[in-house]
Amino acid sequence: MFETLKPQPADKILALVQMYREDPRDTKVDLGVGVYKDATGLTPVMRAVKAAEQKIWESQDTKVYTGLAGDPAFSDVMVDLVLGDAVARGNVAAAATPGGTGAVRQAFELIQMANPDARVFVSNPTWPNHVAILGYLGIETVSYRYFDSETRGVDFDGLIEDLKTAKKGDVVLLHGCCHNPTGANLNSAEWDEVIKVLLETGATPMIDIAYQGFGDGLQEDATATRKVAAAVPECLIAASCSKNFGIYRERTGILMAISADDSATGLNQGTLSYLNRQNFSFPPDHGARIVTTILSDADLRADWQVELEEVRKSMLGLRSQLAEELQRLSGSDRFGFLAQHRGMFSRLGTTPEMVEKLRVEHGIYMVGDSRMNIAGLNAQTVPVLAKAIIDSGI
Ligand code: LMR
Repeated sequence: MFETLKPQPADKILALVQMYREDPRDTKVDLGVGVYKDATGLTPVMRAVKAAEQKIWESQDTKVYTGLAGDPAFSDVMVDLVLGDAVARGNVAAAATPGGTGAVRQAFELIQMANPDARVFVSNPTWPNHVAILGYLGIETVSYRYFDSETRGVDFDGLIEDLKTAKKGDVVLLHGCCHNPTGANLNSAEWDEVIKVLLETGATPMIDIAYQGFGDGLQEDATATRKVAAAVPECLIAASCSKNFGIYRERTGILMAISADDSATGLNQGTLSYLNRQNFSFPPDHGARIVTTILSDADLRADWQVELEEVRKSMLGLRSQLAEELQRLSGSDRFGFLAQHRGMFSRLGTTPEMVEKLRVEHGIYMVGDSRMNIAGLNAQTVPVLAKAIIDSGI
């Protein structure tokens, strides 16, 4: 029967990783997949992660199954990290998942269970895998305007106009911070407007927060998520620990389902556990245990925050350096948006042909929609990228 299988399209981001590996040029620059890299090009294991792993190794006396929703202690620390005290803990059902993608997948399945006719509104653009998973599950996707290709900021009027067409039973997928792939984000007043529209339409928000701590700070990056969760009757949150703890391959994420009425929490919790059981049974534990160990230990937590801040600031520094270099070379401020964007990514706002030209002629790898991973740069490659952008006539 396998002969009936059809070739599936390769994931564009992951295909780029392979192309980069195969490129023999030693001047090549990887601005593709969203992993943090330090100035030497290494994705380091964070100090607190190493220390937590050592603690776990020394103290762990069993590898027996955890619960279907993972270790409740992981849920507690993550609910606290993402939501602070915005919502009563009793109103939050939570389950560990294999990475942020696992949380996104489980969220979409829960939506489909709750309302087979639900439409999911996604920003144009959004992380391509959002759209891919929705398509795979056969969930109708509606895209709402998001990126303004003139200003490289948010087309806020377009966004509001489009979100007003959502209705009760629909879901609006929002990026909690550090929008992927554009780097353009809503300000606080704009989030308030979005909340107003959500309340007016009755649509359910789903927040994907995969980069908490990479934008304006650990607490700052959670502000919008907390505001939304506190304001609406129901909300889903998919959070990832891949980036802010640097534990990509451990597959550590969590899905939260929040109801304003705590009598719904039991049902929500049962549904999350059921979905885990159907898809993979127990979620991976090692990464979740690292995160729990770090967040429950004052010293480890403090050290993690220090290192995370270093990571965040290094990306901000690269943003400013790139914007300044481009200003110098172009004699204009048209690349100023790069310093305004937040998180790991910025959409340069050029054509796929130009992206291809940068790859072929300069060995610079970015995603076809011109998304650049800012963390893929360093002080030496910033001028190389800036010159290539200007020389290509972008
Ligand atoms: C990205 O957007 O590059 C990351 O989230 C990695 C991935 O899985 O696509």
